[in-house]
Amino acid sequence: MKLWHGADYNYEQWLDRPEVLNQDFAAMKAANCNVMTVGVFSWANYEPREGEFHFEWMDTLLDRLHRQGMKAILATPSGARPAWLSTAYPEVLRVDVLGHRAHHSGRHNHCRTSPIYREKAAQLNDRLAERYGNHPALALWHVSNEYNGGSCYCGPCLTAFRSWLQERYKTLEVLNQKWWTTFWSHRFSSWDEIYPDDSSVNGMMLDWARFTSEQTIDFYRAETAPLRRRTPQVPITTNFHGPHVGLDYFAFAKEVDVVSWDNYPTWHTQESDTITAVKTAFLHDLYRSMKGKSFLMMESTPSQTNWQGISPLKRPGMHKLASIQAIAHGSNSVQYFQWRQSRGGEEKFHGAVLSHQSSMNTRTFQDVVQVGHELQNLDSVYEAAVESEVALVTDFENKWAIDLAQLPQSTDKRYEEELQLPYEVLWKRGISTDIVDTRPRDWGRFKLILAPMLYLVREDLADQWKPWVEQGGTLVLTYLSGYVDDNDLCFEGGAPGPLSSLAGLRVEETDALSPQMVQSFHYRGNRFPARHYADLILPTAECETVAVYDHEFYSGRPVLTCRKLGKGSVWYLATRSDSAFWSAFLADRCADAGVAPAVPWPIPEGVSVRRRGNTIFVMNFHPHEVAFSIGSGGEVIKLSGYGFQVLQAP
Ligand code: GAL
Repeated sequence: MKLWHGADYNYEQWLDRPEVLNQDFAAMKAANCNVMTVGVFSWANYEPREGEFHFEWMDTLLDRLHRQGMKAILATPSGARPAWLSTAYPEVLRVDVLGHRAHHSGRHNHCRTSPIYREKAAQLNDRLAERYGNHPALALWHVSNEYNGGSCYCGPCLTAFRSWLQERYKTLEVLNQKWWTTFWSHRFSSWDEIYPDDSSVNGMMLDWARFTSEQTIDFYRAETAPLRRRTPQVPITTNFHGPHVGLDYFAFAKEVDVVSWDNYPTWHTQESDTITAVKTAFLHDLYRSMKGKSFLMMESTPSQTNWQGISPLKRPGMHKLASIQAIAHGSNSVQYFQWRQSRGGEEKFHGAVLSHQSSMNTRTFQDVVQVGHELQNLDSVYEAAVESEVALVTDFENKWAIDLAQLPQSTDKRYEEELQLPYEVLWKRGISTDIVDTRPRDWGRFKLILAPMLYLVREDLADQWKPWVEQGGTLVLTYLSGYVDDNDLCFEGGAPGPLSSLAGLRVEETDALSPQMVQSFHYRGNRFPARHYADLILPTAECETVAVYDHEFYSGRPVLTCRKLGKGSVWYLATRSDSAFWSAFLADRCADAGVAPAVPWPIPEGVSVRRRGNTIFVMNFHPHEVAFSIGSGGEVIKLSGYGFQVLQAP
């Protein structure tokens, strides 16, 4: 079996219970597991006292996995540290904004700048690489666990931030200019005066977010240096999550050999599971697009989580369906957190393949067995590509800048929801979407680019897109785009800044609409709502008005425009509408751009169709059966509630 099936295996919690470990290995075989992630939180087992190392237990574990024909994803344990380390070197603990140092507790909360933490983590990683680099079970390094961009205001972090600023701006004069510090008398006369806790200096806070992300990536590089040196043949990943955890994952993805992510959808908590399916699909597509190739679903729960407030049991079929959804979107694995439920600690009620009952005769275990069987028959999709003709554009920096901005309409910014709207329409139509950032790339792969609410725009973006549009691309821009440059300074001339020449218009003013003030416009004879933001635009002569506002003093002014450019076109939507609008609008744009769905037949609501390589996955996210005909031959597909079928492309 080529796809991976496995779990986070906390073997070290059961070292004194050989009968439990024996059962684990028997159960792994029964569930057709071929990989285990090991050692994620094992620092205190490896090094119970400073400088005293114990690896025998991991030797035994890796040998045993190998004997059973399984692979190991071996973690480096920096996600949580032993108490002796925090006690001997308190500088490894983060300092909060008021200058208080944390106590030793929890995990994922070390200082990323601390030289001693870097040294201790690298030392241990070096020993792991030396000892296990050639172990036949070792397939992949899993570096640390779920890094995050949480802030630390300790002395070394502040010094590092100030040096980072010096590198970026060279002089205080430039920094003051770029941060527009004359506002409220915020001018800095010395680097040491800079303390990144002032939301009134937007540029500073954006730089602090960037620095924190970069410092985390730098910490990761320090951790991986010994692995790269000793085991250049072994690929490296770190498990992403979120996605909004204060990290620029597009930048981070360049540093890993394979993207992996932890997937915890909240099934059965919405009025329809389709809502959850769309959100989850979006995330799979986001992580796949980061490297433009297959990824790993490093974690998912085989049953319930214990940290989401309410986590209902997965209804029959849901586990298999959610696992197949990951594969359909490009995952090469279905992996779980966790293999065996722990008896103590914060996660003792988190679901596991083997629960406290320790039985293979449970619904969860049997679900996992079934996934193991399914994966066995899917060798043909391993490493197979998911091709997308549509790109949905989002930048983490854009999200940070939108969050920082105090706008006339700040209560309903809803950036993530605005990305979901067009995504959902495409999902329903069986059209695959890549979710990409604005860094230079081969845009030529796409026929349609959707870039809603691109508030922060790098100067080079219009130059990247112009030739692509001229060659026949269709670009869709919206309100709240092109407001600020990458220093968070507003563009002189106003929005949409450098995108103005592409769209052929300027924004004169933007109305802020309260939830009660719903305006409207007509597109192709149908009336659609205009909400929250309404740009009053000034189109140039090349820009055609396609739809106008129906209401208010700006009735008759353009709300949707199209500017033809070479063989392509640039659309501008001046307001926020709803999914009915996006559905009508994107049907037309996909038709103009020649974007084809995965299959020619109509897809019923709640059913998702994805193509990966030559395999077509048809998935029903309803709890009830759905039957529909495919093609003119009268052939009918029947999907049970939460059922799916795997077809071969003709
Ligand atoms: C993940 C984490 C795991 C475990 C899991 C529980 O975010 O990486 O260690 O805590 O959540 O759902």
